Amino acid sequence: MNASSTQTYVVNPGGKLHGTLRVPGDKSISHRAVLLGSLAKGTTQIRGFLESEDTLATLAAFTALGVSIEGPNNGQLTLHGVGLHGLQAPNAPLFLGNSGTLMRLLLGLLAGQAFSVEMGGDESLSRRPMHRVIDPLTTMGARILASKNGTPPLIILGKQRLQGINYTMPIASAQVKSCLLLAGLYAQGVTCVTEPVPTRDHTERLLHGFGYSLKREGQRICLQGGGKLHATSIDVPADISSAAFFMVGASIAQGSDVLLEHVGINPTRTGVIDILRQMGANISLHNQRDVSGEPVADIRVRASHLQGIEISKEQVPLAIDELPVLFIAAACAKGKTVLTGAEELRVKESDRIAVMAEGLQAVGINAQPTPDGMVIQGGKMHGGVVKSHGDHRVAMAFTIAALCAKDTMVIENCANVATSFPNFVNLAQAVGMDIQLKA
Ligand code: S3P
Repeated sequence: MNASSTQTYVVNPGGKLHGTLRVPGDKSISHRAVLLGSLAKGTTQIRGFLESEDTLATLAAFTALGVSIEGPNNGQLTLHGVGLHGLQAPNAPLFLGNSGTLMRLLLGLLAGQAFSVEMGGDESLSRRPMHRVIDPLTTMGARILASKNGTPPLIILGKQRLQGINYTMPIASAQVKSCLLLAGLYAQGVTCVTEPVPTRDHTERLLHGFGYSLKREGQRICLQGGGKLHATSIDVPADISSAAFFMVGASIAQGSDVLLEHVGINPTRTGVIDILRQMGANISLHNQRDVSGEPVADIRVRASHLQGIEISKEQVPLAIDELPVLFIAAACAKGKTVLTGAEELRVKESDRIAVMAEGLQAVGINAQPTPDGMVIQGGKMHGGVVKSHGDHRVAMAFTIAALCAKDTMVIENCANVATSFPNFVNLAQAVGMDIQLKA
């Protein structure tokens, strides 16, 4: 453990949020823009790129794979794409840090290369399940070696001939869908993926933006291997998953009024808005527009009095990364909130059901974990010490919780906030939170 991994946030209770802010670029789109820009022929320009540990790991991986990248400089990147068959074998294993998205998407892409690659990550990534992508990729003809229980480190053997697949996903996962579509670029014939319910569709939108044709019929997405990607320009919107912390903060802190600028409102990501509105939040969307094939808006959030609700199963994939901070909204709401159908939360950067329930109980909230969700009785938070278990979204969720707590919240092990939202503390302070950092 290095010194920074012990970083603690000390957050004083109460206060309100005020002002206009732009949270950093969307993580899912930033990863994908680099992946596809690297595989396109020619120069792709990206702005609004998220400069966080996870997405910098993506840049490092593609640099190691022989792509020349200028930047990032204030969110601006220039990628000199090498074409679908221009990647080169890296000199050393790829280290992907904390990023499950990067590992699963890269697996699909690397399964079709002429060289072998080894890749691994930090302690959390080394526990994440990879069978969900290794199994269908193996059916396509890929050869991937993993540890006994299907976890990283992984070795992807090169020179395999991939065959298109018709795959129905047993779980709703944009990472699995994207992995298989990327492998499909290298496969003979057509690759089709059917999702049980809609999941984020940034890969499909970006493939379209890079001039690659795909077909969607209902929940089934198909593409033909062997095509070409054409370099383009991409403006990455602000990440709704990062904006979500301030959406909940402004909703629970009386007197708050914030404007979140240039936020991506792709309908496969806006579950947090729908769920908060259902709880009684005061959220309005302004200046709606289309940016690089993604819908974007400025989001105004004013304080309100939230009520507990039942979150439906269909809403889960549309708010999967926002559920930790929605648990905080539920803890500060009046009445009971019930979440079901969210067993995927148990295999994120931490077991987010167990870790959030433990943290909520530590600060006096009646939160009962279930195998696939949680039952939370809204109440008065008394503050205290919370373990984030090194999970960025857990750390930020409990920071926001201080807005409705009676006493100081001390949140341990927060260094991984830098994996998705490096300037979180600065922005939170700028809009009115009282946070101190302890090494
Ligand atoms: C992501 C998809 C989601 C999400 C993750 C990012 C992506 O995971 O939790 O943070 O960029 O595709 P699953 O698709 O596995 O649910």
